[in-house]
Amino acid sequence: MNKSDAIQAVIFDLDGVITDTAKYHYEAWKQLADELELPFDWAFNEQLKGIDRMASLEKILSQRPDGGAHVSLEQKQIWAHLKNINYQRLIQSVDESEILPGILLLFDDLKQANVQIGLASASRNAKTLLQQLKVEAYFDVIVDPAQLANGKPAPDIFLAAAAGLQVEPKYCVGIEDAEAGVQAIKSAGMFAIGVGEHDILKQADYIVTDTSELSLAVIEQHWFDTVHKFKTS
Ligand code: BG6
Ligand code: MG
Repeated sequence: MNKSDAIQAVIFDLDGVITDTAKYHYEAWKQLADELELPFDWAFNEQLKGIDRMASLEKILSQRPDGGAHVSLEQKQIWAHLKNINYQRLIQSVDESEILPGILLLFDDLKQANVQIGLASASRNAKTLLQQLKVEAYFDVIVDPAQLANGKPAPDIFLAAAAGLQVEPKYCVGIEDAEAGVQAIKSAGMFAIGVGEHDILKQADYIVTDTSELSLAVIEQHWFDTVHKFKTS
């Protein structure tokens, strides 16, 4: 593999990729939806993965008879805040034992290979979680989602990570567990790895069922095959 074919950065989603906080987001939304007497299950939750807090609340409220049209902004902010209180209570005791399999080894291999590491999480709790997981020091850039005009599936957060790392998108790999996240990576012009179900993540360039299947060697192999196929086709 010559230098121009090499991966220069890997940009990670957090929830559901580095740690299984996707389940805590589900529980926190479920508590709120139950209080509001609105339906909420795992299938519905799937649509919320990768989506920011207010947009998620609006999707839940769209199930009201008025489609959420008569809910004031102030009321929405209160409910979004309540969900976040539920969530913060659930993640209080998260520590490094909740890092998903294979992730620490991947971070170490990336550092060893001089491949930069970025974080592209829609969560405003991401920095706290990275600290609780004791992995913040691995990151060369952590994008602040509050500074972006558009959330996933728009490419903004992945492009901001690449810009922060001063790497062209075509030399970046993005890793995501959400359909909206995979769409964001592809719209950013990056190589997308999906973690989860094929049916949901089918737009990804390469899909694993769980993070234990991820390694730098495997990522490089699939990256190289795709780049090579593209060059020869
Ligand atoms: C994403 C999650 O990472 O962050 C979503 O997949 C979540 O489920 C979003 O809604 C925003 O998180 P937070 O912590 O800012 O409410
Ligand atoms: Mg995620």
